[in-house]
Order: sequence, then C-alpha cells, then structure tokens
Amino acid sequence: MKKERAAIILAAGKSTRMKSARSKVLHDVGGRPMLAWVKALADSAGVSKIVCVVGEANADVRDAAEALGMEIAVQEPQLGTGHAVLAAKENLEYFDGTVTVLYADTPLIRPETAGRVFDALSDADVAVLGFEAEDPGAYGRLITDGDELTAIVEAKEATPEQLAIKLCNSGVISASSIDMFSALARVTNDNAKGEYYLTDVIEILRGDGKTSVAVIGQEAEVLGVNSRVDLALAEKAFQSAKREEILANGVTLRDPDSVIFAYDTVIENDVEIGANVVFGPGVTIRKNATIHPFSHLEDCEIGEAANVGPFARIRPGTVLGPESRIGNFVETKKARIGKGSKVNHLSYVGDAEIGEDVNVGAGTITCNYDGYKKHKTIIGDGAFIGTHSSLVAPVRIGKGAFLGSGGTITKDVPDDALALARASQVNKEGWAKRYHTAQRKRKDKS
Ligand code: UD1
Ligand code: CA
Repeated sequence: MKKERAAIILAAGKSTRMKSARSKVLHDVGGRPMLAWVKALADSAGVSKIVCVVGEANADVRDAAEALGMEIAVQEPQLGTGHAVLAAKENLEYFDGTVTVLYADTPLIRPETAGRVFDALSDADVAVLGFEAEDPGAYGRLITDGDELTAIVEAKEATPEQLAIKLCNSGVISASSIDMFSALARVTNDNAKGEYYLTDVIEILRGDGKTSVAVIGQEAEVLGVNSRVDLALAEKAFQSAKREEILANGVTLRDPDSVIFAYDTVIENDVEIGANVVFGPGVTIRKNATIHPFSHLEDCEIGEAANVGPFARIRPGTVLGPESRIGNFVETKKARIGKGSKVNHLSYVGDAEIGEDVNVGAGTITCNYDGYKKHKTIIGDGAFIGTHSSLVAPVRIGKGAFLGSGGTITKDVPDDALALARASQVNKEGWAKRYHTAQRKRKDKS
C-alpha cells in the first residue's frame, strides 16, 4: 500500500541578502511567488498535508502560506535546517506516512524529479535529491558508496578530498516520518556553524541500519535563491525551460529570447508570437492566433485565429472571440469581444460586452468609471461604432446600430438606429480669408 505523504516546507530563514522589505520566498519567478511554486510541487506529489515552517519575523510568509492552505509551524530562533524540520513535529504527531522536506527558496524543481525522489523510497529508507554542481561552493557534498548514500557533509566540515566531490545536496530529503523525527532528535549542533544540520540524519539513520539513496536532478532546477542575482538566474532558467516547452507544443516564436512567459501560460499549436511579447499570469491562447510584437497580456483568453497587436495591452478579464482583432495601442480590460469583431486602433475597452462582427472605430473610449464605480457598456452584434466615440457607461448600443463619429453617447441606442451625439457643423463662407487679411494688416502696422 502506498504510504500517505506530507511535505515540510522550510521558510524561516532571514533572507537578508535580498535587501527587501518583503520576505525572500514571496518574490516572484515566472509571475508566481517562490513559496507558491514549492506548494504546487508538493501538491503534484499528492501530499495530504503541507506544513510551512516560518520564523516569527516572517509574518508575510505566514499569511501567504495560510492563504495557500498550508499549516504553519513557527521556528524561533532559527538554529539550522534540522531544527527547522523539528519545529513541524507537533503538526505531524498522528502522521505515520512519508515526509519530504522542501526549501521555499528553491522554486524550480520539476514534479517529475520530485516523483523520482518518492519512487526511490521503495528501494531505500531515505531519498535525497542531488545534482552535479558545476561549482559546488558551499553546497553539502553527497558521500556515496556504490548506490548507497552514506553521508552528507557540509562544505564547512568537509575534508579537501570531500570538497572535490561535485555531487551536491539540493536540500530535498524524503523519509518515513518516524525515521525522520527519530533521527532529528539525535542531531547535535557540534559543528563549524553551531547549527542543527538536517543533513546529519543520513549518518544517524545509517547507524540504525537504514539505507539512503541519492536521486539525481539537474542543476538548473535545484537553483536556490538567496539574492537578486539568484532571482534573476532562476527567472532566466524558468523562461528558457518554458520557451522550450512552448516551442515543442508547436508554437512559432519569432524571437524566443525576447518573449516572457508566466508559470501558467497556455498556448495552443499553430499560434504565432512576435518579438517582445510579455505574458503575465493566467493567459490562454487558442489555435492559429497571432500575437504581434510588443504586446502585453495578462489573465485573458485569446480565441482561435484572433489577431492581437502590435502594441496591444490585454488586461485581466479579457475574452477575445475567434477571429477577432485587437490592433495597435488598444487596451482592453474585463471585456468580452465576440467573433470577428474589430477594435483596430487607439481605443480603450473596459467593462464591456461586445457582440459579433462589431467594428469599433479608432480612438473609441468606454467611459466606464465615474470616480466611484465601474459601469458596463454593451454593444450588440453588427454594430458600427464611429471613430472617436465616447461611450458613457452604463450604456447599451443595439444590434446593427450605427454611431456617427465623435459622439459622446450617454443614452442607449436602439437596434438598427443611427446615433449622432455631437454639435452640428456650421460653415461660414469666406471667414478664414477675411480673418487672415485682417490679422496681416494689423501685424504690418505694429
Ligand atoms: C543547505 C544544506 C546543504 C545544501 C543546501 C542547498 C543543511 C545543513 N545544509 O545549506 O547541504 O547543499 O542547503 O541549498 O541542511 N531554514 C530554516 N530555518 C533554519 C535554517 C534554514 O527554515 O534555522 C530554511 C531556509 O529558509 C532555507 C532552507 O532552510 O529555505 C535552507 O537553509 P540555508 O541556511 O540556506 O541552508 P544552506 O546553508 O544553504
Ligand atoms: Ca541556501
């Protein structure tokens, strides 16, 4: 029978090197806070319980962890990774499955890799995620004997021979809850840093006759973030992995390195994306759509064969129908735009429902905000909105209606009606000529 799984996420560290008022693990990678990445990883492993270990100073982490549905354990003061895991002991008092320790500052471990760590527990009592480090630096070194992992030695405690080892500890460690807490009770702080090292459990459990193995991941996915430089590296690693995934799905990227994705960007095949396009979280793009250069999209759905940009800003709550068209310098927000409709130039469409085959002329603005509340604009199928219309919401434009250019529309327009809402034009014959003659005379005298 498969054992129940729990995760312990360590997030009590001080994160001084970020030089930020915000806790480190709440900084975003690919549009999602690191803590949420790690929570998603735990979920993907099918855990039934997640305990987040926080310090008293990390009130923001505590709030975020609670909002993500995790249990909280407080570690105060912070005496090392082993001490941090022990802080979660009470939360797991009646739990006898396997526990996996994850670091909240290590956001990019793939679910597939974490899955291999769990699978390794069918052959050994403890599984650790390791990686070959190009520059092993301060990482803990994995000491192996054949297939067995016999110890993890922290860089500060390592002999020169051990320091030459490139196989390093990512921090992820998985064992039965009973073994983990029994070993942690015996970890001491008699070492170079005076800390309780989680990594000591390997040797302690070995003394109990238990076996450990290392599962090998890639260095890019176990990258830990301690500074803004690391954060930039993690972002780069995420973007490059996501670009590969998107290209593999049959999407054309004209200039892959200039396109920025979010963790959850979904793009169907045969979509074409120009240079310098930015995707915030929550974007789905259906087949055959084209996103032209310099467009910015967030929390929206772009319909099949729709056309967006260049220079379009598609904001949250936008749903574009199939074959619709959003052109340059157009901003949309909370707007449903029906099949085949066009908003081609220099417009703002917010809090709007636009039917099918509507043409919205250049420079049209939905005046959705009265300083206190947002109001809705509804436009029926086949309507023609003349250029430079101001649609003062709440307002409804009927199906097939025609709005003359430059109108300030404050009243509903019936189906198939013409609406003119501007001062009528007055032409004064010869006026300009008389004016210029008079002005020139005056200038000559002075
Ligand atoms: C740790 C490992 C090292 C590994 C490296 C990978 C130990 C002793 N060392 O070292 O083998 O190669 O990670 O990045 O485990 N934390 C707490 N409370 C504490 C101390 C730490 O919650 O008292 C949290 C931190 O917030 C962080 C994580 O644990 O999320 C790792 O702590 P850190 O001090 O960065 O460990 P390293 O010294 O890097
Ligand atoms: Ca670290």
